[in-house]
Amino acid sequence: MSDCCSPKGYRWVFSERSARAEAKRYRRKGLDATSRRIVDYLKAQGVAGRTVLEVGGGIGAIQLELLKAGAARAVSIELTPTYEDIARQLLEEAGLADRVERKVMDFAQAAAQVDSADVVVLNRVICCYPDMPRLAGAAAEHAREVLLMSFPRRTWWTAAALWLANSLLFLMRREFHIFLHPPERIIATSESRGLREVLDQKGVLWIVAALRRVSAA
Ligand SMILES: C[S@@+](CC[C@H](N)C(=O)[O-])C[C@H]1O[C@@H](n2cnc3c(N)ncnc32)[C@H](O)[C@@H]1O
Repeated sequence: MSDCCSPKGYRWVFSERSARAEAKRYRRKGLDATSRRIVDYLKAQGVAGRTVLEVGGGIGAIQLELLKAGAARAVSIELTPTYEDIARQLLEEAGLADRVERKVMDFAQAAAQVDSADVVVLNRVICCYPDMPRLAGAAAEHAREVLLMSFPRRTWWTAAALWLANSLLFLMRREFHIFLHPPERIIATSESRGLREVLDQKGVLWIVAALRRVSAA
């Protein structure tokens, strides 16, 4: 991890308290709009029997929804340990604990220890990590069929909002930074690993992109 960010910084931003609040919101209202776009796209394509790898999935709501829709198994790789207790509670409540394996590690650093999956998901993760090529490249290499990602649009309003947020984080010495990695570079990095973009859905803040593996001729 680079100088901008530290494990302490991640734990402050993604605290146990915020994880519990997210779980409460998910129990009451279900998925938020961006996560819903990802799950709807994958359900429309068909997830029955597929394996799922979610990187930076937080409380694991997307994995839960994909398993309920018929996915076979899921692996969660999460950098911050604060989600683990509440994520396990949600899995137990849904009766799905035996179909998800959760590991706490930096996927960009430890990708070689993780098996590939049919479906790989990174929802709002790339903007929380300094080394985009390493993270997006490893995710693309692990996607046997499809890679789903969301990341911020590069507009004047997202640039202004992130500048403000990063200035506050710096002033508070929080050892965390939010990155506006250029969307075209994220896509190019993934495509260089044998995938091709099939979805580029722009919301006000977030782009949801899907890339499929190009079958060998
Ligand atoms: C903004 S949160 C998004 C959580 C969830 N995906 C969502 O959209 O609600 C970003 C998450 O990505 C995780 N993360 C960032 N870089 C990571 C990496 N290299 N490996 C694993 N997790 C990572 C962080 O720990 C954090 O939980």
